[in-house]
Amino acid sequence: MTRTLDEAGREKTAARLLKSSANKFYDPEVDVDWDAPLVEGKRYIPAHRSTLYGTELWERLSHEQRIELGKHELASVATNGLWFEILLMQMLLKEVYNADPTTNHAQYALTEIADECRHSTMFARMAERVGCPPYGPVKWRRRLGKILPVIGYGPALYGSILVAEEVLDRLQREQMNDPEIQPLVRMVNRIHVLEEARHVTFAREEVTRGMAGLSPGEKAYQRLLIAVVSHEVTRSLVNPAVYKAVGIRPRDGYRAAMNNPYWQDTVRYAGERIMPFLDEAGLVGAPGMRWWRRSFLLPNR
Ligand SMILES: [Fe+2]
Ligand SMILES: [Fe+2]
Repeated sequence: MTRTLDEAGREKTAARLLKSSANKFYDPEVDVDWDAPLVEGKRYIPAHRSTLYGTELWERLSHEQRIELGKHELASVATNGLWFEILLMQMLLKEVYNADPTTNHAQYALTEIADECRHSTMFARMAERVGCPPYGPVKWRRRLGKILPVIGYGPALYGSILVAEEVLDRLQREQMNDPEIQPLVRMVNRIHVLEEARHVTFAREEVTRGMAGLSPGEKAYQRLLIAVVSHEVTRSLVNPAVYKAVGIRPRDGYRAAMNNPYWQDTVRYAGERIMPFLDEAGLVGAPGMRWWRRSFLLPNR
């Protein structure tokens, strides 16, 4: 009985999301003006969201170098976002493989894959347009990421997707209306924010539903999995190679960034909306706390 009710709720949400996807979606190919010139002097991210903001290394950079670093940080976040999306698409495809394709649920999963396909193309194109390398994650992390679609399942999987989506969403939302930011970047952020809202609804419901049927042992595994993956999400956002663009040794820049209280606050800010939800769902706890603390996502107490 509960199962049937669950299925009915799932189908209802998916039907609503399918309708909304048909009404409101962007094609970055036509909706972004890729040929418009970049605006001289405008930033790519706000200064206070730069990983080195407030550090000694930051003080040594000129105004132009700070803008240049922000541009590379933007490209790093976008190409890591693209990496998360490609992992998510693999996981969603696996789910569709096993599902009844006539359900709204399976069809919405396919629609979300289509959204993410467009986003990944858009992020890749933005990195190219602003003249940055396709940073993505560092090599070992890219290799490690391959196992996620294999070992990941259940609410932790959807929960980790939510962490990646909501962390990016919060930063993009803050920046999409900031007049100091390059118009191209603002448009890309706006498109992403609008379409991600549906993904967030979908994943949140999957988390709540998924947690309900688990044994205590499975719940512990789910708590560990989500903590490790979320830690990798926040640690991968900035690829150490970005610092080379302003003459800082990657190792020195990355170390300064991870120890920078301003950057840690930025990550905490980015996680402010998702963490209470995960906590309430029972996904934040032992044996994952060490990873959560190192992720900077836990609220200050
Ligand atoms: Fe996306
Ligand atoms: Fe998404």
